[in-house]
Amino acid sequence: MAATVKKSSSDGEWTVVLPSKGRHGRRRKPKPKVQEEEEEEKPWISDDLEIDPQRQARLNKKMEISMNKIETSEFYTSFLNQLKSPEVSEQFRLVLASETQLQMVMYGIGSIESYESPRLQLSIAILMKREFDWVGDIEVFDPVLSATESSVLESLGCTVLSVNEQARREALKPTLFFMPHCEANLYSNLLQANWRFDRLSRIALFGNSFQMYEEQVTLDPEVVRATKRIVAARGIASEFAIETVSDEFFAAFHDSSWHFFSAGVDSELPLLVSEGF
Ligand SMILES: C[S@@+](CC[C@H](N)C(=O)[O-])C[C@H]1O[C@@H](n2cnc3c(N)ncnc32)[C@H](O)[C@@H]1O
Repeated sequence: MAATVKKSSSDGEWTVVLPSKGRHGRRRKPKPKVQEEEEEEKPWISDDLEIDPQRQARLNKKMEISMNKIETSEFYTSFLNQLKSPEVSEQFRLVLASETQLQMVMYGIGSIESYESPRLQLSIAILMKREFDWVGDIEVFDPVLSATESSVLESLGCTVLSVNEQARREALKPTLFFMPHCEANLYSNLLQANWRFDRLSRIALFGNSFQMYEEQVTLDPEVVRATKRIVAARGIASEFAIETVSDEFFAAFHDSSWHFFSAGVDSELPLLVSEGF
């Protein structure tokens, strides 16, 4: 039976729930999610089909507060400084190559209506688009999004996808994958779909630290399986950790990094395909 991850109703923090050992405490590090395969790309329809104008208005207000909280924070200043630093901006330049914009694809944002962390994560992505003209359109998918949340996302200029791609989008053009605190299988799917240097070099990935996954590798075969490709990608990845700066932003951004992948010849990539990873 698979481990599941649930929100604690009291504080909205992610908690890892393992079937045999009962509830675990507050999640502070990205624990590799061990999830049964459900990997088919398929059309997706929200369970919650009605747009509720009152909830919509409340959520618009919450998003306004969240964007303001980020924009006026030291955390955001540090986030922007990192993006503008020579090391990181050079990585984005390499991903862009001859293109002028990076499409942004956001997977696993979570419920922006119910929790602050997803709102802060969405806010920073939108602010990033406003700050940098090289950030292009934002596409969003998370199976938990309600019709009301989708309408607010659209009003903020995002496109909500109607297909669950299982994070298997091929980077046929330069793409910024914004995947805050996703489960390991989604990063793994993304890597698998792009396991060639010409595609990997078109990816900028914001997500759980790959270094952290490598450090947390255990002997549990399910965890090894879920993180194998992530750990293999470490060898060709440049990683830049996000500094959370203050406790206010810890829950939303802890253990997150920017990841970029170097160019090379495909024969140098670890051969994982035949092993079904
Ligand atoms: C651990 S939660 C993180 C939520 C939020 N980003 C946060 O930090 O609180 C992982 C999220 O991934 C979403 N997810 C699961 N499968 C997905 C898929 N195929 N595509 C996009 N998102 C997915 C889940 O619904 C969940 O909201």
